[in-house]
Amino acid sequence: MAKTSDPKSRSRGKKVNVKTARGRKISSTRWLRRQLNDPYVAEARRLGYRTRAAFKLIEIDEKYHLFKGAGIIVDLGAAPGGWCQVLRQIAPGARIIAVDLQKMEPIAGVDFIAGDLLDDQVRKTILEKCAGGADAVISDMASAATGHRATDHIRTMALAEAGLDFAIEVLKPGGLFLTKVLRGGSEGELLDAMKQNFDKVRHIKPPSSRSDSRELFVLATGYRGK
Ligand SMILES: C[S@@+](CC[C@H](N)C(=O)[O-])C[C@H]1O[C@@H](n2cnc3c(N)ncnc32)[C@H](O)[C@@H]1O
Repeated sequence: MAKTSDPKSRSRGKKVNVKTARGRKISSTRWLRRQLNDPYVAEARRLGYRTRAAFKLIEIDEKYHLFKGAGIIVDLGAAPGGWCQVLRQIAPGARIIAVDLQKMEPIAGVDFIAGDLLDDQVRKTILEKCAGGADAVISDMASAATGHRATDHIRTMALAEAGLDFAIEVLKPGGLFLTKVLRGGSEGELLDAMKQNFDKVRHIKPPSSRSDSRELFVLATGYRGK
């Protein structure tokens, strides 16, 4: 993969305009226009990342150096694999265990489990692979957006809570949990649970996370153990 540069600084080119076509919804036109003019999308394509989300993990790691010396990292909601590609680069010595409802094209060095984190058997399989405990659990899990703000918020928060419950089960003391959340009112309970179980909890809005999105990441470090 080629070297990363700041995608925003590469975005000074001419904007692509997309006209509404017959049969295409206005929301799809808006999405297409945004994709075509998004420097992170272009940079992800140039560097061979499967998603623009790869940059969110790169930016968070540049600031917090999440995976120094990590032995086992669990990536929840990993497909199509952008974060896994980044993990291979920034934590080449770690074992990476990834899970997603969707299938994922294989990535060398990533142990992928196709399944639902909410399924007991899937969680058991991951736990068995993490004998001795994981150093980091990272979650970008999200369900398909419905466009209904409150519903999307509740679903994403439920996934973040499931991720936290699993992190508490699998992490070694001292480990970290990073999760995506959506601002919307019900984050309090999740944050309280994180504060009870970890030494430090931070909110992060990486530059590549769209400023008009309610998406935010929460990083909890220093897992206190069961
Ligand atoms: C935003 S995508 C993740 C993108 C990924 N970080 C990347 O860079 O390629 C969110 C993913 O969460 C997955 N997901 C949602 N609910 C899940 C669940 N209950 N168990 C496992 N994966 C889930 C979805 O299938 C989807 O692929």
